[in-house]
Amino acid sequence: MTTANFNFIRELAYGQTGIVLPERKKHMVYSRLCRRLRLLGLRNFDQYCALLQTEEAELGQFINALTTNLTSFFRERHHFQYLENHLMPLWQKRSSKRLRIWSSACSSGEEPYSIAMTLARHFNRGGWDLKILATDVDTNVLTRAEAGLYPAEVLDSLSESFREEYFSLQQHQYRIHNEIQKLVYFRQLNLLESWPMQGPFDAIFCRNVLIYFDQDTKRKIISRFRKLLSDDGFLFIGHSETLTQISDEFELIGQTIYKPRLAQCAQPQLRSAR
Ligand SMILES: C[S@@+](CC[C@H](N)C(=O)[O-])C[C@H]1O[C@@H](n2cnc3c(N)ncnc32)[C@H](O)[C@@H]1O
Repeated sequence: MTTANFNFIRELAYGQTGIVLPERKKHMVYSRLCRRLRLLGLRNFDQYCALLQTEEAELGQFINALTTNLTSFFRERHHFQYLENHLMPLWQKRSSKRLRIWSSACSSGEEPYSIAMTLARHFNRGGWDLKILATDVDTNVLTRAEAGLYPAEVLDSLSESFREEYFSLQQHQYRIHNEIQKLVYFRQLNLLESWPMQGPFDAIFCRNVLIYFDQDTKRKIISRFRKLLSDDGFLFIGHSETLTQISDEFELIGQTIYKPRLAQCAQPQLRSAR
C-alpha cells in the first residue's frame, strides 16, 4: 500500500464515516483491506482504490472492513447500574409509561440488548411502551445483531441470572429470547448523515465511537443529540470520552453520564408591598 493509496483511503474513510485514520493505523488498515483485495481477486491497492472510485457497492464493504466493532454485554457496567438504580426509579414515578432509548453505535447488539435486559426485568409488565432504537453504520454487525445468536464466550460478561433468564442454547450458540429481541429495532444509520428520527429520546447511548472522530465531528454530533434528547433525558458516552471542550449544552452527572444543561429562568421580580 503506497502513501498515495493510504492517503486516498483515509480521506475516503473520513469523508464517509468521520473516522480518522492516523499514520500509526496504516498497518491495521492494510491488514483489514487485504481481505477485501483477496476476496475480489485484486493484485494491488492501486486496483482497489480505482475500484472504490467506480463501484459504489464496494463502498459499504470498505466501511464495514474499516470499522472497529469491539463490544460486549454490559460493557462499562456502571452505566447499567445507573440505569437500574437511578433512572428506572425516576421513570417509574412519571405519569407516562413510554420510554425511548437510542443506542447510536450498537455494533453486534450487545449494548442495546443489555439495555433491554436491564429494563425488561422491571418494565416488561404493567403496560410499559418500551422501544430501543439500535443503529450502526456497519451492515455486517447489524446482521449479526438482528440474528441475536452469540457464541458461548460472548456470554462470559453476563451474570448467570441474565444468561439463564434471557438466552437458550441453540446449536452450540446462545439465542436471545424473543421478549428481549422485540424491544430492539435495528437500523443502519451513519452518524454523519441525516437522521430520520424525530425523538425525543429519554436516553442516548453513544459509547466508544466518538474516539474515532475529530473535535469538529464530535461537536456536530453531540449538538444533534441534544436536539433529539428530551430535557430530562440522559446521554451516555464511552469510558475514554468526554464532552469537555465539545459541548456546553450538557452537564456531567455521573461517570461519563450527562444530562442537558437547562437555561436558568430569570427569577420574577417581587413588587414591594407599599
Ligand atoms: C467500538 S464499537 C462500540 C460499540 C458499543 N457502543 C460499545 O461501546 O460497546 C464502535 C461502533 O461504531 C460504529 N461506527 C463508526 N463510525 C460510525 C458512524 N459514522 N456512524 C455510525 N456508527 C459508526 C462502528 O461500526 C462500530 O460498530
